[in-house]
Amino acid sequence: MTSESSRHLTDLSTEPPHLYGRYRRDPLMRLLTGIGKYWFPIWRPLAPLHDRSADDGILTLDIVDREVVAVDENVIALTFAAPDHSILPEWHPGAHLDLMLPSGRMREYSLCGDPGDRRTYRIAVRRIPDGGGGSIEVHDTLRVGDSIQIKGPRNAFPMVLPGFGSSSRRLRFIAAGIGITPILPMLAMVDRYGLDWTMVYCGRTADSIPFIDELARYGDKVTVRTDDVDGLPSMADLVGPTPDADAALSVYCCGPVPMLEALRVHLADRDDIELHFERFSPPPILDGTEFTVEIASTGHRETVAADESVLTALRRVDPAVPYSCQQGFCGTCRMRTTAGDVDHRDSLLTEPERDEGWFLPCISRCDSESLTVDM
Ligand code: FES
Repeated sequence: MTSESSRHLTDLSTEPPHLYGRYRRDPLMRLLTGIGKYWFPIWRPLAPLHDRSADDGILTLDIVDREVVAVDENVIALTFAAPDHSILPEWHPGAHLDLMLPSGRMREYSLCGDPGDRRTYRIAVRRIPDGGGGSIEVHDTLRVGDSIQIKGPRNAFPMVLPGFGSSSRRLRFIAAGIGITPILPMLAMVDRYGLDWTMVYCGRTADSIPFIDELARYGDKVTVRTDDVDGLPSMADLVGPTPDADAALSVYCCGPVPMLEALRVHLADRDDIELHFERFSPPPILDGTEFTVEIASTGHRETVAADESVLTALRRVDPAVPYSCQQGFCGTCRMRTTAGDVDHRDSLLTEPERDEGWFLPCISRCDSESLTVDM
């Protein structure tokens, strides 16, 4: 789930790279483009036709639409476009954006619009009152007409279609609440290809689940069940009618950690069922033991409980410690250790970076009694 795919930048609509690879764009081309933009009279009308590849991975986009998409008004969808309405970097279902919020927080949100629309990106955000403040900031401060910086798109939840890298013949989608966001573009794709698919969409109440209207077009392929009416779903409810011994089924799931873990255990022995999932919250801590983290600059020592992350412990001391994914793949929380043995549990940092003392406190732990960090 934490694997990332990078966008291929050699399509013909992209400016050629420097011959010796020293610059992202060739300086001569930049100069000519600059001259052309201001002096060649027909260039400007054509400029929006060019792919708006991100410089240094960051784009500044305008918010062009803001819509409430759940009856309880706790989920909003935001649509972004380039100020000159030029073409945006392409993306595939499962991709997400990193939003760089005005406060300096960075948060990741799945793209939930149409990948075929190259001029807009759409995300949806649920207000989480007791979260880290990112969703509140999105809800309370971002308005149509505002500009926002984004990174991406990146894809940590790629989809493999039957016949194109997957041997499955059927697809089952499972979404819970705001977990619908990466699933929406997947549904559009499999429906367009005429594949055999079904979905179960779970939530606490009908009013709390977003995009019900958009799902109506799929008819009885989508089953909506809510805890207040149907009770908590069983594994059979989630996976569908008991798949036979040779199910050739792909399951794509996005929802809370307990549901994902139960599903993972339930399907552990089923080699014939592919399970793909994405979490919106930290994974459970396995084999955790208690240790102490010390802040080098102040000497403050904080206990890290067996079932919590170093990040959680550090945020008790300083709530402003930066973070985003909390799963060890975005790198936002990265910091340096000056003493102690790190138990690295990420797949992002390179060995030289680890040798220099870098570690990711959202996921990595400690092999000694204490860890000293520089923050
Ligand atoms: S918050 Fe993303 S790697 Fe730690």
